[in-house]
Amino acid sequence: MSLLLNRSTFGNEADKGNTLTRQEAEELFSAWVINPKLRLHMKQVGNLMKCWAAEKEGLDEDGQWRWEMAGLLHDADWDQWPDLHCKKIIEELENRHVDPEILHAIASHGPLHFGVEPVTNMDKMLFAFDELSGLIHAYSLMRPGGYEGMDVKGVKKRLKEKSFAANVSRDDINDGCNRAGIVLDDLIAFIIPRQATVN
Ligand SMILES: [Fe+2]
Repeated sequence: MSLLLNRSTFGNEADKGNTLTRQEAEELFSAWVINPKLRLHMKQVGNLMKCWAAEKEGLDEDGQWRWEMAGLLHDADWDQWPDLHCKKIIEELENRHVDPEILHAIASHGPLHFGVEPVTNMDKMLFAFDELSGLIHAYSLMRPGGYEGMDVKGVKKRLKEKSFAANVSRDDINDGCNRAGIVLDDLIAFIIPRQATVN
């Protein structure tokens, strides 16, 4: 079953700058996403995107929300409509006149699956955070203290263990760092303390 989107432009330039309000996004999130693990994953990625936008991109609150919204909704159609993954949420957000930049970030969060290359920093960071965030969370669940005392070395050890969180693509993680031009250790160090606050 192919999830290829077979297009490279998303949304309408006239909608540039438009977002859902936080309340609208949360309503869509609650209505569409049922699996609690997926909900947490999406919240964690949303938070990482927001933190990156604030700390590394120097964006104001509106800009931070644009990044957070991309993270918060990127998997919104995954548990209920896996065959329509990415297509359904993009069409919904297009109908709601959301900024094409946010749509492109969601469309390119799995280049091999959806056939859309990450281009902007928002695109690249969503792709870079997605799988690595999941692996770090899986690691926190097997540690007695959760995120407490977790370090980069421990995460890298788990990354090398093929059987640990085997569904997390190591290739995607490396590819994400390369595309974003970030050293893996630095990205892990960024994620650990920020993700620890969203449990
Ligand atoms: Fe995801």
